[in-house]
Amino acid sequence: PSVDIQDNTVKATLPTGQSVTIHLYGATVTSWKTANGEQLFLSQKAHLDGSKPIRGGIPLVFPVFGPPPSNHATSSLPQHGFARNSTWEFLGKSSSESLGKDQSQEVLSVKLDFGLSHGMLSEEFRKAWPYEFGLVYSITLTKDALETTLQVRNEGKQNFEFQVLMHTYLNVEDISKVRVKNLENKNYVDKTRGATSHTESSPALAITQETDRVYQALDPTVPIVVSTADDKALFSITREALTDVVVWNPWAEKAKGMADFAPDDAYKNMICVEAGTVSAWQTLEAGDAWEGGQSIKSRL
Ligand code: BG6
Repeated sequence: PSVDIQDNTVKATLPTGQSVTIHLYGATVTSWKTANGEQLFLSQKAHLDGSKPIRGGIPLVFPVFGPPPSNHATSSLPQHGFARNSTWEFLGKSSSESLGKDQSQEVLSVKLDFGLSHGMLSEEFRKAWPYEFGLVYSITLTKDALETTLQVRNEGKQNFEFQVLMHTYLNVEDISKVRVKNLENKNYVDKTRGATSHTESSPALAITQETDRVYQALDPTVPIVVSTADDKALFSITREALTDVVVWNPWAEKAKGMADFAPDDAYKNMICVEAGTVSAWQTLEAGDAWEGGQSIKSRL
């Protein structure tokens, strides 16, 4: 595979044409292309210069999801934490190959690793969250899937609590024809209805208005499937150690209200399906490590 490193992006391309682009700012995946084209949504007004978290792609949420609670170690951090608005370092690539039929080497996948640690944070973030941590974020591209895995290490002497979310903006042609499956009978918190609790009744959820739900206690091995209304699978997402899934679409009014969201009606071309562990805190003891991730298969 070829890996092209620019000032602030890393792009890997498989010999079969699939590619992934990551901005060092936030280690945000900003493009994932398969034979069927771009799979991720990126706002036309996304800030790509490090002045704001990137609106689109896969921003990484750590160590807190949403506005931080008061009286918690994360209280002084911005919404969704600091991982998506810090500059990461590229640690390197590795690839896996197998012998093809004609005995030539065939590249099956490429993995790109990115790192972030306490010492790399801005002074403001270091003060706001004074823990010694190490993050390694691995992004693996195969012919038909994109995997993102986060390893969190506690390198200090104190325990800390964290939440993680892979805030994936999927590219869809027409939100009115999109369904989200395998959420039936699952409990969720509806952030558009005062964070009240509900149970999903639909086997194939349609998005017809502003949607902001945290589905909880899911079996990570059961894929969340994003399909068309006539049941053609668009994406299938399995997770490891991530038992919550957020489904978010800002809809017309909220989209218009976001300065970095463009064009205004692009809410019709995206759906966020976000794998995470956000409804409780993960406690990481001094010296310990935690790992979780997602695998997104495209157009099965
Ligand atoms: C989602 C949250 O994960 O992210 C929403 O559930 C939030 O409540 C959305 O509006 C976008 O957040 P931000 O900070 O990127 O505008």
